[in-house]
Amino acid sequence: MGKEFLEMPDEKGYFGEYGGQLIPPELIEIMNQINDAYEEIRNTQAFKDELVDLQINYVGRPSPIYHAKRLSEKLGGAQIFLKREDLNHTGAHKINHCIGEALLAKHMGKTRVLAETGAGQHGVALATACALVGIDCEIHMGEIDIAKEHPNVTKMKILGCNIVPVTRGTKTLKDAVDSAFEEYLKDPVNSFYAIGSVVGPHPFPKMVRDFQTVVGIEARQQFLDKHGKLPDILMACVGGGSNAIGLFTAFLEDDVDMIGVEPAGKGLDTPDNAATLTLGSKGAIHGFECYNLQDDEGNPLPVYSIASGLDYPGVGPQHCYLKDIERVQYVTADDKECLDAFMELSRMEGIIPALESAHALAHAMKIAKDMPTDKNILVNLSGRGDKDADFVAEKLSL
Ligand SMILES: Cc1ncc(COP(=O)(O)O)c(C=O)c1O
Repeated sequence: MGKEFLEMPDEKGYFGEYGGQLIPPELIEIMNQINDAYEEIRNTQAFKDELVDLQINYVGRPSPIYHAKRLSEKLGGAQIFLKREDLNHTGAHKINHCIGEALLAKHMGKTRVLAETGAGQHGVALATACALVGIDCEIHMGEIDIAKEHPNVTKMKILGCNIVPVTRGTKTLKDAVDSAFEEYLKDPVNSFYAIGSVVGPHPFPKMVRDFQTVVGIEARQQFLDKHGKLPDILMACVGGGSNAIGLFTAFLEDDVDMIGVEPAGKGLDTPDNAATLTLGSKGAIHGFECYNLQDDEGNPLPVYSIASGLDYPGVGPQHCYLKDIERVQYVTADDKECLDAFMELSRMEGIIPALESAHALAHAMKIAKDMPTDKNILVNLSGRGDKDADFVAEKLSL
């Protein structure tokens, strides 16, 4: 399964029925150039050496695995372990693919890198990677997210990136993608659209997956070295799906359960959620086929989550495929469960998680209680909560 999965997508960019390139022919040509350039450099020793050097000396990899002992004891069931992607330079897993994308853009002679951001983590990571390789960066971000995630907005400004506020539609992630993509289409020859997750037209779901697999490769070895066995369950939040696919891919051939956690927002019975794999149906968005939260005409619905990085109406094609073949189970956690987990990890372990990651933790806490104490759950702590601290403090009147 793991090898077979790594051989995916097919040459048209499909993981089973999902993915592809639903874009105009001239863009297909440009996407194919990106794919060719990526395939050309990814296996060169020079590129591999540069990437590994930056992973170690710039990002701070490998990120540790931490046993949340006090939290596990309090829950009284399975042991909860955290893959500490929050400790990476810039505070989340996003830097893993941003460095790869920025190096590729530079290699291709592009003069500007563009992207959207929700929580601002991808924006900060990309602005950082662009400063590192010396290329201009422009980030499109919804007005609502700009207000909520202002620490990340300030960082992007300091890093020298041009921030474009998006005032249309939901003023959040989906409209930020639309806006960035339109800007990209004005000059796709000189620009590079560095997508922030395993979404968008081929080859982006493949490339972002490949750059993120370092998370699972490390975690698998670290767990084996320390415990002589693999974890029983892996848990990760799913927005577009990059941190989840990064953790899951290396374990696909193993006897390990995997759970992706989507945002139930204010409830699955309300319109205010972004549980794409749980409630969505097959459709297309942003140039690829996937499960979608859409109306009867196939237009994306205005989704919502307390975590800005999770409120996207589509999802990576790999996750759609893994759901259909039942290799990964997809569940939900709502805003309240997320906030409870956010506070619990902060107060029991002294680790403030990103609201996105707190969704994965919330589900781990929910199921750990009823599991034996010798079972182990490994949660991808995809990011740190600095960006969310003011928002949560105000919300909970702290
Ligand atoms: C910390 C963190 N985790 C998770 C996500 C969700 O993205 P993905 O599903 O691609 O990992 C985001 C997105 O902004 C994020 O900032």
